[in-house]
Amino acid sequence: PVASVLERGGVKIARDDVVRDEPSNNIPDTIFTKLGQQLHRRDQHPIGILKNAIFDYFDSSYENKFDKFDDLCPIVTVKQNFDDVLVPADHVSRSYNDTYYIDPRTVLRCHTSAHQAEILSKGHKQFLVTGDVYRRDSIDSTHYPVFHQMEGVRVFSPNDWESSGKDGAAYAAEDLKKCLEGLARHLFGAVEMRWTDTYFPFTDPSFELEIYFQEKWLEVLGCGVTEQEILKRSGNSNNVAWAFGLGLERLAMVLFDIPDIRLFWSTDERFTSQFSKGQLGVKFKPFSKFPPCYKDMSFWISESFTENNLCEVIRGIAGDLVEEVCLIDNFTNKKGMTSHCYRIAYRSMERSLTDDEINELQWKVREQVESKLNVVLR
Ligand code: PHE
Repeated sequence: PVASVLERGGVKIARDDVVRDEPSNNIPDTIFTKLGQQLHRRDQHPIGILKNAIFDYFDSSYENKFDKFDDLCPIVTVKQNFDDVLVPADHVSRSYNDTYYIDPRTVLRCHTSAHQAEILSKGHKQFLVTGDVYRRDSIDSTHYPVFHQMEGVRVFSPNDWESSGKDGAAYAAEDLKKCLEGLARHLFGAVEMRWTDTYFPFTDPSFELEIYFQEKWLEVLGCGVTEQEILKRSGNSNNVAWAFGLGLERLAMVLFDIPDIRLFWSTDERFTSQFSKGQLGVKFKPFSKFPPCYKDMSFWISESFTENNLCEVIRGIAGDLVEEVCLIDNFTNKKGMTSHCYRIAYRSMERSLTDDEINELQWKVREQVESKLNVVLR
C-alpha cells in the first residue's frame, strides 16, 4: 500500500500533488510507489550492503572522514538537478522524454549530482551522497527507471598539490583514479576494468569506468575533475576538486550475481532471505527460471513517438512482468510512413505466467499504445 503522504528530508508530499494527469507532470503510479522506499538504507538489502561496504572503504582509507548524506529528498528543483551543475539549457537530459517532472520547475532527481552545489556551498570538503534517482528509459535487464547512485566529492586546497610539482587539475585526476581503482579492488578483488574518456557538463576532464560482466563492458561510474565554475559559485575559488557518481545496482549485479535489475525490488522471501548485513558478494542463487513469453506488435509511428513513452505505457500495465522491450524491425514505406515492430518479453522471476494472463496484458498494451501514443496498429 502506498502512503498518501510521504515525508522525506522534511518535505511533505501528498500523493495528489504528485500524480496528476496533466501535461506538466509525467510521473506514473509505478514510479510514485518507489518514492520513500530507500533500498539504500536497508542493511540487509544488496544495495544497502554495498553502500556500507563503500563507506568502509572510505572510512579506512582516509584520515579525514567523508561526510555522508543518504536521506536527501529525491524531489529537487530544475535548478538543483541541471542549472547548478552547468547542464546546458538545450541538453536532452532536460526533456520530458528523459526526466520525470512534477511540474515545470520540479523534478525527481536524475542523478545525485543534484546535491553537489548545495553541499559544497555549505563548506563540506569531502562527502558522499547516496540516494534513489529516476530516469525515463527503455526496458532491459540492466535498466530500470529508478536506481541508486552514490556521489563522491573531494576538494583540495593549494597546499595539497603545490609540493607535488603537478598543477591542481592533474593532481586531482590522479588522486581520483587512485581512489576509484582502490575502491574497485576493495569490492571485487580482481576484476577486468577499463577507463574511457567521456563528457559531463560538470567535470573536465571526464572519465568512465567499465567492468566486464556477462560478456559485456558495463558502465558503472562517471567521474572527473570538477568544473571551476561550480567551485567558484560555492566559495571554493582557489580550490580544485574531483567528483564521481556510481550506479549501485550495476555494481551489485556484478558482486552478487544478480541477473536482472527488477530483482532489487522483489519482496519475495526467496530473494530477500539470501542477503544479510555486512555480507558483500554472497552469490545469489536463482530460485527459479521461468520461461519468457514473447509478444510482437507492429505499428505506424507518428512524429511524437518515443521508445521511452512506449516503455512507460507497457510498464504501467505489466509492471515488473516486463523483462525487455526490443525494436526488432523498422522501415519507412514509399509514402514516408515509418513502421516499428517491438518484441516484448514477459517473464516473472517468481512464478509461471499463464497464457491467459499474458494475452490479457498484451491486449491492454495494444489498446493503450494506440490510444495514448498516437500510433496506428498494423
Ligand atoms: N552524474 C553523472 C551521471 O549520473 C555521474 C557523474 C557524477 C559524473 C560526478 C561525473 C561526476 O551519469
